[in-house]
Amino acid sequence: MTPAERKNAIVLGGVIAIIALMLSIVAYSPTLYRWFCSATGYGGTTVRVAADHAKISKREVTVSFDTNVAPGLPWRFAPEQGPVKVHLGQQKLVFFSAQNMSNHAIVAHATYNVTPQRSGLYFKKIQCFCFNEERLEAHQKVDMPVVFFVDPKLASDPTTAAVHDITLSYTFFRSVVPQQGKELSRLDAEATPDPARGETLFTQQCSACHSLTENKIGPMLGGVFGRKAGTAKGYDYSPALQKAGLNWTAKNLDQWLLDPHVFIPGVRMPVRVPDPFQRRDLIAWLEQESRRPAQASLQKPPATIAERGGGK
Ligand code: HEC
Repeated sequence: MTPAERKNAIVLGGVIAIIALMLSIVAYSPTLYRWFCSATGYGGTTVRVAADHAKISKREVTVSFDTNVAPGLPWRFAPEQGPVKVHLGQQKLVFFSAQNMSNHAIVAHATYNVTPQRSGLYFKKIQCFCFNEERLEAHQKVDMPVVFFVDPKLASDPTTAAVHDITLSYTFFRSVVPQQGKELSRLDAEATPDPARGETLFTQQCSACHSLTENKIGPMLGGVFGRKAGTAKGYDYSPALQKAGLNWTAKNLDQWLLDPHVFIPGVRMPVRVPDPFQRRDLIAWLEQESRRPAQASLQKPPATIAERGGGK
């Protein structure tokens, strides 16, 4: 090589390297863009939060759901409810269904966006299928939960203060990295309340202070579902809970377990359950136990055992 040829070779090598770099940026740009957007909330994408919660405000917004499938992806994809009203700060669980209409497994990825765009900053998702590459087997259909809340800061930001309607929009695309696909059916299992899991969670997280049949550090919880708050016989409640004057419905129990001190300031329960699915399963179990005629029978166990046919 003459010095001139060597110089040309270096220039050519440099040009090839730059082109290669540019091509790889283009190839990865959807990922980069998505990453950028979900990290910053830019472009109406929503910010993902771990297990956050905020004070619940009286102000309500209506959230509507919009679903799309990119051309060439043989999936059906739809929201399972119409628009929902939520208080700012209130966690909400909603469902979507997806079905693979084809004869082979397909991995897809959902992108999401929120309109009006600025409200995307305040739209927080705790759990969503949109964070992963999702795989559906041939003809498989699944229900997918999404947990979100709208940050009360929406109301104090002058650019979003007037927003009363928010649309959450999803589009499924065929995945460019199908090898990373997770089975979407894992979410299906979460779509139904599981009282048995609730019982396990109760043993792990509540039984140090609560039992179904007697007052311990906390009041007895047998029959708590539907009971008036602060009324277990013989238990010394905090004045705050005594005066709360509410019934333990599923919704109230959910708020209570999310954070008792935010729900009713001044109460004495030092525990919270940030995971919405754990709360749902705990409540399902408490409800199941409260429906059972066990409370009455516990007061006269011998008769009941005899009625049941001995010792079961
Ligand atoms: C460290 C002890 C402790 C743990 C653990 C605990 N609690 Fe409590 N709980 C309390 C106390 C104390 C109260 C009464 C609060 C008051 O009087 O302000 C209470 C009250 C309650 C009440 C209201 C009952 C009524 O009669 O109004 C419910 C419901 C409840 N707890 C559910 C749970 C569940 C479900 C769990 C498990 C996730 C749990 N608690 C874990 C201490 C605890």
